[in-house]
Amino acid sequence: MKARVTAHSRYTISDIDNRLYGSFLEHLGRAVYTGVYEPGHPQADESGMRKDVIDLVRELDTPICRYPGGNFVSAYNWEDGIGPKEDRPTRLDLAWRTSESNQFGIHEYADWAEKANTEMMLALNLGSRDLDAARAFVEYVNHPGGTYWSDLRKKNGRADPWGVKVWCLGNEMDGPWQIGHKSAAEYGHLANETAKALKAFDKNLELIVCGSSHSNMPSYPQWEATVLEQTYDQVDYISLHMYFENYEKNTAEYLALPEKLDRYIGTVSGVIDYIKSKSRSRKDVKISFDEWNVWYHERENDAKRMAEWDWPHAPALLEDIYNFEDVLQVGCILNTFIRRSDVVRIACIAQLVNVIAPIMTEPGGDAWRQTIFYPFQFASAFGRGTALQLDVDCPTYNADVASGVSYLDISGVHDGDSGTLTFFAVNRNGEETLEVDLALERFGTAKSVEHTLIKHDDLEARNTKENQNNVVPVKGDGATLADGGLSLSLPPYSYSMIRVQL
Ligand code: AHR
Repeated sequence: MKARVTAHSRYTISDIDNRLYGSFLEHLGRAVYTGVYEPGHPQADESGMRKDVIDLVRELDTPICRYPGGNFVSAYNWEDGIGPKEDRPTRLDLAWRTSESNQFGIHEYADWAEKANTEMMLALNLGSRDLDAARAFVEYVNHPGGTYWSDLRKKNGRADPWGVKVWCLGNEMDGPWQIGHKSAAEYGHLANETAKALKAFDKNLELIVCGSSHSNMPSYPQWEATVLEQTYDQVDYISLHMYFENYEKNTAEYLALPEKLDRYIGTVSGVIDYIKSKSRSRKDVKISFDEWNVWYHERENDAKRMAEWDWPHAPALLEDIYNFEDVLQVGCILNTFIRRSDVVRIACIAQLVNVIAPIMTEPGGDAWRQTIFYPFQFASAFGRGTALQLDVDCPTYNADVASGVSYLDISGVHDGDSGTLTFFAVNRNGEETLEVDLALERFGTAKSVEHTLIKHDDLEARNTKENQNNVVPVKGDGATLADGGLSLSLPPYSYSMIRVQL
């Protein structure tokens, strides 16, 4: 099968905000306990942080990490996680029917984030609590000193404020499953009043208001319109979430789902423009896509186990083991974000460790890379710069979720500083190799090209504790410099990264 792509140095979409490669750590399952934090583990440092996990997170180079939830945050008392560890209370976590020991709180998270070289993005509880708890937390975290909350932080061992910039005003407040779920009008009012208070404290904070939990929600997209109408001038981003599943084991349908993601972003972008005009505002609100990933492998098992268990602490939960097919999906999702980087400025893979995550750990044992680690790592490392508006001419197929799905899913990024062009390409055709003629216009001379390939004969192939390197990237031989561009040969069902030195 043949395709033609044209990249032109002046046809650009946007500069990419590096926070497009953000991540998420929730108090859920083994994400925190035996994930990032495991005192007594042979690899634990003096604070109990697993150095093997920190090394893998640093490999992903995720610039920002959302914490502490997720559904967990909507009944969380942040004060439970400060002060001497022996005095911290154990509480029930109503979201996941578990117990929370609070041995890991904001001080431990800040310590870990610094070691993992990632910026903190904090979520506030607007479910069971309100603006008073939120303003106290922000003051505790960000005020230099001389007040009750900031002096308490100092007493607890942290002299300097952490200066956290990005704050989420609750989590998935449109969802009836959320503790303290609200109607759009109720939530919009609370979010606006909370945002006003936080901006009175510091007008430079970046605030994220909750949009829809997914685009099948009955309240979507009216939720976005109602909430933004009340909050537009106080907030900077609206949050969207989407998880991808393949229960039917239909690869063509599954790989078409990013088209739905694209429509979702387009629709909410339209709602933002509508409310901007309606409120005669001059400022822009952007999208923070702060939960996305594949999530279905263990979902039914988890629901059964949760219904039966007796409030365990840090049980295995949402431990999806990803396969090679999910590499293709994650590649297409990241391509969608790059192509929409003018409006999606922050995005967070959900989540980071053990819980629907690129990194897995064994308590007391190894840490390893899941299959989806690699497309995320490549996008994070080489998807920084300017997103290119590519012209793509490729045969398509029709799926239930969308018509005209291109067999070639591709994004391009120009990094002017290093003089490189990077293309991320997924061949969605399981039968045929895609022969791509990629024209490069007005970039100057291409000096060399490198091809990195992820391909496996078995779509179900996984990386497990016993077989950690079953699905790994290899050096490909499918990219050559051709007259004025590149000639690519992309095998059936494959993920490729093509890097050109200019
Ligand atoms: O990431 C898992 C869960 O998915 C989060 O806690 C919640 O926000 C979403 O529904």
